[in-house]
Amino acid sequence: MTLSFATPDSATRPVHLVDDTAAPEWLAKQSQTIQDWAATHGFKGAIGQTLLLPDDAGAIVGYGNEHTRARGRFHLAAGAVKLPAGTYTLVSDLDADALATETLGWLLAGYRFDRYKDQAPMGARLVAPEGIDATRVEAIANGEALSRTLINTPASDMGPPDLEQAARNLASAFGADIAVTVGDDLLTQNFPMIHTVGRAADRAPRLVDMRWGGTGPKLTLVGKGVCFDTGGLNLKPGASMGLMKKDMGGSAAVLGLAHMIMATRMDVQLRVLIPAVENSVAGNAFRPQDILTSRKGLTVEINNTDAEGRLVLADALALADEDNPDLIISMATLTGAARVAVGPDLAPYYVDDAKLAAALETAASATADPVWRMPFHTPYEAMIEPGIADLDNAPKGGFAGSITAALFLRRFVEQNRYMHFDIYGWQPSDAPARPKGGVGQGTRALFAALPDMLGL
Ligand code: BES
Ligand code: ZN
Ligand code: ZN
Repeated sequence: MTLSFATPDSATRPVHLVDDTAAPEWLAKQSQTIQDWAATHGFKGAIGQTLLLPDDAGAIVGYGNEHTRARGRFHLAAGAVKLPAGTYTLVSDLDADALATETLGWLLAGYRFDRYKDQAPMGARLVAPEGIDATRVEAIANGEALSRTLINTPASDMGPPDLEQAARNLASAFGADIAVTVGDDLLTQNFPMIHTVGRAADRAPRLVDMRWGGTGPKLTLVGKGVCFDTGGLNLKPGASMGLMKKDMGGSAAVLGLAHMIMATRMDVQLRVLIPAVENSVAGNAFRPQDILTSRKGLTVEINNTDAEGRLVLADALALADEDNPDLIISMATLTGAARVAVGPDLAPYYVDDAKLAAALETAASATADPVWRMPFHTPYEAMIEPGIADLDNAPKGGFAGSITAALFLRRFVEQNRYMHFDIYGWQPSDAPARPKGGVGQGTRALFAALPDMLGL
């Protein structure tokens, strides 16, 4: 599906976005009919409150106040979904950032996952207001829609070959080059850990390598593409396995971000690497206590086959690093510990360079895409060193699980140009413009921050 703004027609009506503190003043300026209408219907301007006005005068949608707005995001969308079908123009006094975010929310409220069942489309469509870059907002909406759909699609239809095909579709839409290393070729091309994690599955493991753009700084995105995570021989209990179709959420996020970058022709040399595997159980599955030699040469003792994401990412990160890009960003549904630490709303991220963190945080608040910086705490390196190999994939003790996973990944790249996101990738219950299901995290913040981060 494509999310887009509407073209105005003869029936286009205005929708007024009204803050609850400003509602009395706003209403006082309207006709007596509208004032009486609003009073009769108890319109106070709360978030999500919607009032259709008489005489084709359009509608009012509540915008709450700074306290109620602080409890959520996409406040215009909360009301827009209740409007009758038709096209609308927005009347508001929002600043540029808020206008871009709220209109994005309207588009995202129209997202539907309808591959397996028809879903009623959103009836109300918005004409792009003055003051936004409509192409940019649409690019963000469609990048996010791509992330959601990839995550929502179950592993039966989103195995490693399907994830490869999704990357190929994106590449051909924007004229990107793509190369894919599949199955035993992973061994000859020296991606041993991607092969090891994925070899027990019927659908062969692979590494997707997409490149786009000939000028500008080099940006490499690496996304965890574990299409289903059973845990392997360290099998997950049922309750923990239940959502593991989303374990390719990192790859869905980087493909969504790549869509935004390419659709707006950002001046970067973009590379996207996706190790796409299934972590399955079979006689040839890798085992606890196996010791793997990675692409980079570091040896890794397996102490839990369920800590598979860091293994496939390590080989992809080593490849990324060989190219000396200006910035490497990995995104992964890497640890349950990240979810315990910050919950499903915040995207926890790691970076050594405080300037990169500052750029990201500014962009995150401007785009309603909250992130939270976590520490690459070097003293914990000892926790990932087992003794008989260079690295341990699953340190015992239960301390700082997201940090030790991040430190593991950092061993495979240069420190100062590396950023890593340990995301959840799933919206647990419906919220405005964010239906229950797969969701991009950190992508809109990154998209807004990249020009600053890369010195564009
Ligand atoms: N895919 C999971 C992490 C995960 C679980 C993300 C639930 C989001 C929600 C990952 O492969 C995993 O199982 N990690 C283990 C690592 C441990 C064995 C060191 C974890 O976090 O429990
Ligand atoms: Zn796992
Ligand atoms: Zn996993």
